[in-house]
Amino acid sequence: MGVSGCGKTTIGKKLSKKLELPFYDADDFHPKSNVDKMKKGIPLHNEDRFPWLNILADSIKKWQDDKGAIVACSALKESYREILSSKNKDIVWIYLDGSQSLIQNRMERRQNHFMKAEMLTSQFNDLEVPNYGIHVAISQSPEEIINEIMLKLKFMDKSFFGVIGLGVMGKSLSLNIAEKGYSLSVYNRNTAGEENVVEDFLKIKEVGMKIKGFTALEEFVYSLERPRKILIMIKAGNAIDAVIEALIPLLSRGDIIIDGGNSHFTDTKRRAIYLENKGLSFVGVGVSGGEEGARKGPSIMPGGNKTSYSIIAPVLESIAAVDKGGTKCCTYIGPGGAGHFVKMIHNGIEYAEMQLLAEIYNLLSPTKTNEEIKEIFREWNSGELASYLLEITADIMTKKEDGEYVIDLILDKAGNKGTGSWSTKAAFDLGTVNTMMSSAVFARYVSAFKEKRKSLAKRINKADDVRDSLSVADIKNAYKFARIINHQQGFEVIRLASETYNWNISLSDLSRIWTNGCIIRSALMTDCISHFKTNSDLFELPEIVDYLNANEDAVKSVLIYGLKHRIPLPLFAEANTYWISITTERLSANIIQAQRDYFGAHTYQRIDASDDQYFHTNWY
Ligand code: 6PG
Repeated sequence: MGVSGCGKTTIGKKLSKKLELPFYDADDFHPKSNVDKMKKGIPLHNEDRFPWLNILADSIKKWQDDKGAIVACSALKESYREILSSKNKDIVWIYLDGSQSLIQNRMERRQNHFMKAEMLTSQFNDLEVPNYGIHVAISQSPEEIINEIMLKLKFMDKSFFGVIGLGVMGKSLSLNIAEKGYSLSVYNRNTAGEENVVEDFLKIKEVGMKIKGFTALEEFVYSLERPRKILIMIKAGNAIDAVIEALIPLLSRGDIIIDGGNSHFTDTKRRAIYLENKGLSFVGVGVSGGEEGARKGPSIMPGGNKTSYSIIAPVLESIAAVDKGGTKCCTYIGPGGAGHFVKMIHNGIEYAEMQLLAEIYNLLSPTKTNEEIKEIFREWNSGELASYLLEITADIMTKKEDGEYVIDLILDKAGNKGTGSWSTKAAFDLGTVNTMMSSAVFARYVSAFKEKRKSLAKRINKADDVRDSLSVADIKNAYKFARIINHQQGFEVIRLASETYNWNISLSDLSRIWTNGCIIRSALMTDCISHFKTNSDLFELPEIVDYLNANEDAVKSVLIYGLKHRIPLPLFAEANTYWISITTERLSANIIQAQRDYFGAHTYQRIDASDDQYFHTNWY
């Protein structure tokens, strides 16, 4: 932009060649009436300009939706520039700056230019120099001007990747991404209480990290190179839809929105379809590993449009944890909400693993010190029971603050953010069993009724001060037993979901990306890689069935001990119930069927007839 005679066309064409973008001269878009006026030396008025500027605004939007363009246009007034950018604000303004006398001289030397030199004065009268964009002095040679523009463009380099939301996970992932050499733009709203989030974050960025911070969404979006890759790291739920709605008008065809939170998989599927209809892509990514994992290497479960995933895969793979074989703990899970589905079940497995350790603590703490429990956990963690959750629970046991064990001071009321209950519901929807994770969810809910528990406990009055101790070897075997059942149920839900929704998930690959970076990484998970290479179900493995069979007694002694001393052991009980039920040929469901037929004529099948035959009895 700039007054007539400043060299817009010459510089614009050179720039177009350099940047391999098409060139357009705004004057070519004037209606004929305007061209005639200009030829006659009659100055244009706003009513002449507005239709022309609007045509240009539409064209700019079209060019931008393609790959962009270089446009030469005087755009002298702020109001003109506002119209030009009304359909697309992602414009880099380059102002060619020269004095009136310099341009006057140049124009006088030029021939056949339809504008007379005396009109220049009116141009300068109209000119409102923008206080933004790139300003270049035209007193230099065209080559020098181009070099300066290129340099300044480079300086205002667009970022490769964007992150929205600088909460604990967003911050850690941002640092991880920037550390891998990607230029990054980050955005956080600056509403009450969050005014300094971006500023504070920029203070902790490390040397060499290319991070730009924004509190204006529009500026954030335009700081990104296309196709824009924007990772949303905010609380799951309506907030995600609100951010998506705010982003849509700012984005261009082919841009990719990535949701890295714990969103419900059906929301992810819905959002993917919605955005696809708008020419945008949506990738739902499960991320596990907590704050430390996010910073140093999480396990990443991406799902959604595979082509869009391939564009963001280098970033996600670069930040992911590495498995024992040196492969990244990040693999494409499947279309739609597949990534978020497996993350949800990951959390369900996590809930059950955590609850089992809490139950073991409940079994051990009355007769053992925190140090002794820690030692037991550490010993277990050195062998086949090794897991991240066991390791951190061992650490937790002896952590002190002001000379006191922190664990002894923590209120016994568990919180949750919903993913556990979603995984429970998923099993209901699919018609399969995941009693381990459901029971773990309910155990948290029961814990939350602290006041009720407190008042009822007073009325029960069953002091249990003398305790025989339970064999640690039995607890250990029962723990291994229950963990197998938990993993069996968790993977079975995923297998069934994959079959139902046509996701084609490889349980072996999934186990592999869960061997590092995530919360449920464990030696058992490592074994699952080979287990699921040839089997779709852990119960197909003779060594697993043999182990469970051989250790029923260990679970029994744990449960008997729990009953005797009023220790609630929902997960050990569920593990036992499921195992016993699934290995019993004849259950008591014949009674259920008879009852259903009795009151509702629902019919039943018979043991002495084929499966496709249904019977009804006149019971009364
Ligand atoms: C992870 C965790 C993480 C977190 C969940 C569950 O894999 O990093 O699963 O996503 O723990 O938010 O939290 P709640 O226990 O609060 O439901």
